[in-house]
Amino acid sequence: MSPRLAAALPLPPPPAARTVLPGASVAFSLSSRRGARACLVRLMCSRHSATAAAVEEARRGRKQLGMMPPLYDYLMANVREPPVLQELREETAAMRGSQMQVSPAQAQLLAMLVQIQGAQRCIEVGVFTGYSSLAVALALPESGRLVACERDERCLEIAKKYDQRAGVAHKIDVKHALAADSLRSLLDCGEASSYDFAFVDADKRMYEEYIELLLKLVRLGGLIVMDNVLWYGRVADPLIDDQKTISIRNFNKKVLEDMRVDISMVSFSFQLCLWGWDDNLPEASRSLNQQFIMLML
Ligand SMILES: C[S@@+](CC[C@H](N)C(=O)[O-])C[C@H]1O[C@@H](n2cnc3c(N)ncnc32)[C@H](O)[C@@H]1O
Repeated sequence: MSPRLAAALPLPPPPAARTVLPGASVAFSLSSRRGARACLVRLMCSRHSATAAAVEEARRGRKQLGMMPPLYDYLMANVREPPVLQELREETAAMRGSQMQVSPAQAQLLAMLVQIQGAQRCIEVGVFTGYSSLAVALALPESGRLVACERDERCLEIAKKYDQRAGVAHKIDVKHALAADSLRSLLDCGEASSYDFAFVDADKRMYEEYIELLLKLVRLGGLIVMDNVLWYGRVADPLIDDQKTISIRNFNKKVLEDMRVDISMVSFSFQLCLWGWDDNLPEASRSLNQQFIMLML
């Protein structure tokens, strides 16, 4: 497949990756109040990723950049996926655009980040059928709230069905509108600096606008996760110059130079284990208290 053809494909949001350091493992402290004593996320993939191959893999439902079937299957077999998320994933698999859904491994990482932060108030931009939002809501405490922004009503119907089934609908405030409008209305309602965590997985051409709005909504020390920043490898291919790719390149450059935020851009081109135990939350959270932190997947 030529790069130009790949560029013309209606792209599914990717896979994403998780943190750096080949073969490294990183210890995190987790609050014990929501479940297991220990959490483990294993993120692995091969080092190689041609743009076209990455697009093809995503089309086939493999969400990890550069990861071929045996390894992807192995990863999947090592994810703890709650039954309700599995049911949602299976129902979504039959739908057009199903490849847009985050992978179980990605969702598990998002849930872990929410737990690490002890987040109470979260925002998601781009809900689709609700896999990542449900994973986040399940990780939130009973008093937690997730503002879920999505423009597609039919997708939201599915999302709401599973939120009810999982018993977390009361934690999710669905905003059926263009996400930028929803974020602005949160600001208009006086909710600046009141959110702990945000996940953006929609509309790449709006990333620069989303980040400015989210930097107003998320508190200092909060965490903003942006999906798709490598865009199946397209960002590094000089032959690809479609609007979405250009927007993501511009966004990546802008945040690199933006000293308001600490950043970590991570790729599945490496292997990583994140382990989390219950204890020492104060120690672990210390580094999260200075500035905004962005994790770009
Ligand atoms: C990649 S999917 C989200 C996948 C989701 N995070 C999941 O895990 O299933 C992107 C979603 O963003 C929505 N979207 C795109 N542009 C939007 C906008 N401007 N405002 C609100 N939603 C938008 C699309 O309708 C689509 O459902």
